[in-house]
Amino acid sequence: MKIKIEHQRLEVELGDRSYEISIGFGCRNTLTEQKANLQQDGRKIVALVDNGLSEGNPSFINEFVCDLPHLKIPSGEESKSSEWLCRGWDFLASNKIDRTSVIFVFGGGVSGDLGGFLAASYLRGIDFIQVPTTLLSMVDSSVGGKTGINLSAGKNLVGAFHQPSQVIIDLEVLKTLPPREFSAGMAEVIKYGMLGNASLYQKLVSLPQALSPEHPELSAIVHQCCLDKSRIVRDDEKESLIQGGRALLNLGHTFGHAIEATAGYGSYLHGEAVAIGLVCAYRLSCKLGLCENESENVLLELLARYNLPIELTSQLSLDRLLSAMMNDKKVHKGALRFVVMDKIGSSHVENSVDIEVISEILQSIGAR
Ligand SMILES: NC(=O)c1ccc[n+]([C@@H]2O[C@H](COP(=O)([O-])OP(=O)(O)OC[C@H]3O[C@@H](n4cnc5c(N)ncnc54)[C@H](O)[C@@H]3O)[C@@H](O)[C@H]2O)c1
Repeated sequence: MKIKIEHQRLEVELGDRSYEISIGFGCRNTLTEQKANLQQDGRKIVALVDNGLSEGNPSFINEFVCDLPHLKIPSGEESKSSEWLCRGWDFLASNKIDRTSVIFVFGGGVSGDLGGFLAASYLRGIDFIQVPTTLLSMVDSSVGGKTGINLSAGKNLVGAFHQPSQVIIDLEVLKTLPPREFSAGMAEVIKYGMLGNASLYQKLVSLPQALSPEHPELSAIVHQCCLDKSRIVRDDEKESLIQGGRALLNLGHTFGHAIEATAGYGSYLHGEAVAIGLVCAYRLSCKLGLCENESENVLLELLARYNLPIELTSQLSLDRLLSAMMNDKKVHKGALRFVVMDKIGSSHVENSVDIEVISEILQSIGAR
């Protein structure tokens, strides 16, 4: 069957740091054109490639990188490390990368965060182009310029805001993404609906068939999520607003991060922990007297449709979850802050939430 070529473009409006996101099936032409244009301008190109992508989908990647210096990084969170950052710097230095050079970054959020931080830090900042290949990175991490690595003390503790110069999303590449990873990305898609887009949420709820890499609505839904994120980033590029702005993207994440940290990184995929976090955020909103007319069952069914967990898959200590929350970067002047929903599609940051209420919610998902 012939692949349908259908491209949509949108702009992240950030003044002289504005950039375009192209979304479609079979964006290889956009990639090759961009590579040729840059080379014609005399700019050196290198690539950073996630090894899991390279093994899982060699035809997507090989043609593009075969004549380019490229660095393959092992798949998994461990690559977002100082070790791989140093290897990356050495790779750039050995290829005599200068300030006009461009790094193409292929892979999910792990390579995007590492590659973006390499670009942010080498020679005090060079251009990079994100080519996200997981659903999560398409709808979330490739847009907005958050880059960084982990330390043993915590995730994403070292990093920089550095916007890509372009984002190229080829939905066709999702066909080789493991279904569990696709589902994890769906948690972030559902999050966009809950935090600020009721019609997206309703659309997800009413789709007769669950979204999949082949689904005819996938392109429009990825486009919508990128549009929602780009508007939030435009209004609050560096997450400096205390109310609203980028902080809203953390709906479900304070709970989710605590679950990931307490269970041990790798037990849950990020999106899976976020899915449980969304259930907690919904329950917290209800306890605060918000979200009155919304049904919990609709949310639980939506998450379950993508095989996402709606409670802990094995018991975790309540005390450890609470102390992980107190270590979260989002703790502000010692107070726990949570994004809550007024209703589906509208949210705000609640600055001081009673620890007893949080304990009850954590117990409702199986913490003891
Ligand atoms: N910067 C941000 O704004 C932001 C936002 C959300 C999450 N993140 C970060 O993103 C990371 C998670 O990203 P992720 O969920 O994309 O995971 P990931 O990058 O670890 O990729 C998941 C798995 O899919 C494989 N893979 C990638 N594309 C593939 C493809 N098309 N076919 C086959 N296999 C493929 C990878 O090898 C890996 O094993 C976390 O580190 C998180 O902190 C960053």
